[in-house]
Amino acid sequence: PAPGWTTRADVVVIGSGIAGLTAALRLKDRVEKVLVVTKDVLAAGSTQWAQGGIAAALGPGDTPAEHEVDTLVAGAGACDAEAVRALVTEGPEAVRELIALGAQFDHAPDGELSLTREGGHHRDRIAHAGGDATGAEIQRALIAAVARAPEIEVVEHALAVDLLLDGPVGSGGVAGVTLHVMGEGQRDGVGAVRCRAVVLASGGLGQVFSQTTNPAVSTGDGTALALRAGARLRDLEFVQFHPTVMYLGPHSLGQQPLISEAVRGEGAVLVDGAPEDGGTAFMRGVHELADLAPRDVVAKAITRRMHESGRAHMWLDARHLGEDPDDPAAVARFWERRFPTILATARSHGVDPVTDLIPVAPACHYASGGVATDLWGRTDVPGLYATGEVACSGVHGANRLASNSLLEGLVFSRRIASVLPGELRGWSEPLDPADDGRAPGLVDAAVRPRLQETMTARAGVLRSAAGLTAAAEEVAALAAEPATAVDVAAWETTNLVTLSTALAGAALLREETRGSHWREDFPERDDARWAGHVDATLREGVL
Ligand code: SIN
Repeated sequence: PAPGWTTRADVVVIGSGIAGLTAALRLKDRVEKVLVVTKDVLAAGSTQWAQGGIAAALGPGDTPAEHEVDTLVAGAGACDAEAVRALVTEGPEAVRELIALGAQFDHAPDGELSLTREGGHHRDRIAHAGGDATGAEIQRALIAAVARAPEIEVVEHALAVDLLLDGPVGSGGVAGVTLHVMGEGQRDGVGAVRCRAVVLASGGLGQVFSQTTNPAVSTGDGTALALRAGARLRDLEFVQFHPTVMYLGPHSLGQQPLISEAVRGEGAVLVDGAPEDGGTAFMRGVHELADLAPRDVVAKAITRRMHESGRAHMWLDARHLGEDPDDPAAVARFWERRFPTILATARSHGVDPVTDLIPVAPACHYASGGVATDLWGRTDVPGLYATGEVACSGVHGANRLASNSLLEGLVFSRRIASVLPGELRGWSEPLDPADDGRAPGLVDAAVRPRLQETMTARAGVLRSAAGLTAAAEEVAALAAEPATAVDVAAWETTNLVTLSTALAGAALLREETRGSHWREDFPERDDARWAGHVDATLREGVL
């Protein structure tokens, strides 16, 4: 539909997690007007759900070089070395700035930052807040800072539908963005913001799968919008499955409760049954870091054990955490102090981690790939930048290292803000979207559960050519079901279908196993054939 209203801003930031709000805060004094648009309320995205923390070489004896090695090893040969170097060297300062902004991290009794360990890290380098509520504290601090910045305008309940381009897809640059706004007074309905640059910080695509740690808003809208506007997507096949997501039964769909890796960092152990009943701690012998191996290794080991035993989940034994593992009261006190959110959530589902094993299974957690960017967040589309989970900056490779995601949002949003004002384009006239080469038919929102089932069964943790081909065929059939209403649910489903197509295509093309991409028909890593990237563009498809 034609826009019912228009407004203007130099820069539109799409998304309001750590990446989007950091970009807005750092741009506000450097350009005339910054507008933040977000699909729900400011706090609704993935950042507020982050538990474990934010990784940076902040502890005594730690160095960016050691953080770099751990990041590269987890990334399984698919990281961009320069992007990783930027992440780890600028990370400590970026975290200190976040603290100066007001984020209150946990401190040890000696007054130093309290740092913990997670999978793939050889040192304690994860800063955390509120025990296991790191993301919520960061989101609170950023929203408070935005509230103190009248220069930043915020529009909530606004889905970014498509970019307005000043030329055909493939050569056109950013001239604006169309929004579908729900119930926001004068700006209700479909409208357009004319702008000179867009910073995409719209998060991930976890809702492609039936079970995910991602909130309901993570439908890959920004990734799909960028693809339609001519941007290159990269590494889409590298979807990370978090090993320890609480298993609530086969009918529990959508966002599932995360049991942070930090619980294993504090000593919890994965078991295939209660040790007192003969269960074994099966990560020993699988990897030198055992339960703290990189995430892909742990997710694969759990999945293998599930297949071998015919069970739908394994268990996490965290009944002995803290200084006095034999005293249940002391263990309970440790849990209450260190993991209050997880404790309350587990108890609300009838599992007491102090006395019970926690049922866990892998679930979709993080898109390591996304919109391809250079070291300064620039995409292939003039005027379009991307940061955070929506971006593929190259820091995660085939498997993101634990707690590097909040850090990526911070570091690369700072980088974008340092170059964007100097390269702001002039105001340009948008082509009519009907004429610029994009015409996505909207897909019926009702197909979403079938899409998620197919992607979970055939393009999830364990993949094969037969399964991925069947997934691609099923997704194509679902894509042909036209929407019955033009609303946010239809746009979200269309975006999920677009990304499922690209994801299944990329996963089919990569005939090897690397990081979080696990092919049962090609079980080995194959550096001779697959050291490079799989890209997807609107024009060329997956290549
Ligand atoms: C967790 O707390 O286990 C999640 C951390 C992350 O995804 O990096």
